[in-house]
Amino acid sequence: MTKKPLRLGVNIDHVATIRNARGGPHPDPVRAAELVASVGADGITAHLRGDRRHMLDDDMRRLQNEIDLPLNFEMAATAEMLKICLEVRPHAACLVPENREERTTEGGLDVAGQHNFIAPVVRELMDAGIRVSLFIDPETPQIEAAKSLGAPVIEIHTGAYYEATASTTPDRIQAEFDKIKSSAELADSLGLEVHAGHGLTFHNVQPVAAIPQIVELNIGHFLIGESVFMGLAEVVKQMKRLMQDARTGGMY
Ligand code: PXP
Repeated sequence: MTKKPLRLGVNIDHVATIRNARGGPHPDPVRAAELVASVGADGITAHLRGDRRHMLDDDMRRLQNEIDLPLNFEMAATAEMLKICLEVRPHAACLVPENREERTTEGGLDVAGQHNFIAPVVRELMDAGIRVSLFIDPETPQIEAAKSLGAPVIEIHTGAYYEATASTTPDRIQAEFDKIKSSAELADSLGLEVHAGHGLTFHNVQPVAAIPQIVELNIGHFLIGESVFMGLAEVVKQMKRLMQDARTGGMY
């Protein structure tokens, strides 16, 4: 069986976080997107949050207009974000939950519990030709609800796996990994395209990259943080190497 290729979407939100700490134009997330495009990233992911803590509306427009890679526009399922996303017209939109007080996207979207609320947003985006993905926890009811919503893609939230790899025992890591693996298998068997992301690092990426049903990883915080030490180009190249080695069975 030929293995599906695995793409890397680089989430550049935290370049904007650093920029906004000073309020000026530097460092420019669009320049970061250009750089990662030149060293093998397959897509750009950016999250326009309601509080605009990192990406700003104009960043999203510039990423769409100036960068030659597919833009994955992460957003909450709100009327405000829907309007902006329909104006920007990115390649893809990823619907995520958003709580004002959270530091980052803490859990998956409850597509099972909020079906009626999410359905019209999915429909409007799809009608505009924007590929929709739903960022969900690796749980069967969420995958089944995602399927019934008609979105073609799910992104599995790997945050619990990350937490396990950061601080707990091999059993716990294996249990969290198994949830990701069986969820990817189930989603693929239902005809959904499977992505994954959150908390992936050089240390924990390879088991996830080796899951054959997963075709895209979206990675941000670690890449931008590690670029302080390695430089952004080197860190992206190294992440892609680890992903490809795991995929082809080389190093992992
Ligand atoms: N995918 C989605 C849907 C996200 O919201 C995020 C950011 O939380 C990521 C991927 C990237 O996560 P991280 O920055 O931890 O790599």
